[in-house]
Amino acid sequence: HNILVLNGPNLNLLGTRQPEVYGATTLKMIEDLCTSHGKTLDQNVSHLQSNHEGTLIDAIHAARGKQDGIVLNAGAFTHTSVALMDAISSAEVPVVEVHLSNIHAREEFRHKSHIAPVAIGQICGFGAQSYVLALNALAAYLAERGA
Ligand code: DQA
Repeated sequence: HNILVLNGPNLNLLGTRQPEVYGATTLKMIEDLCTSHGKTLDQNVSHLQSNHEGTLIDAIHAARGKQDGIVLNAGAFTHTSVALMDAISSAEVPVVEVHLSNIHAREEFRHKSHIAPVAIGQICGFGAQSYVLALNALAAYLAERGA
């Protein structure tokens, strides 16, 4: 399968950004981890990061018919973007929502996710391992569906 790992705003700063919350792992390390873990699962992983809501929406539209699944960390857009939610609803590509931090253990405004209702499921709180768990979940989901 083809799986897109899509990262949203400020995640390009990982490694230097609030390391007490997000850890010391850089985005490049996470991307490399996803690529190599994808190989062990026989999945072809590609990557995109953008700080722009419209670019993320375009990437979700472009995934239609091209990607079998998306691992999405929408960053703060998770909590604000009805537009991203609508894009996922329209794309017909299964999405697993991921977060490095446990958004439910943080500020109230992070508890609400616009992605969760249109995702297969949500994985949060495991740092870079959240992405590994998401790839496992997506690969199992796709295998089960015979997709
Ligand atoms: C995040 C959690 C969001 O609340 C925050 O805005 C981020 C990162 C996470 O991976 O823990 O940018 O998505």
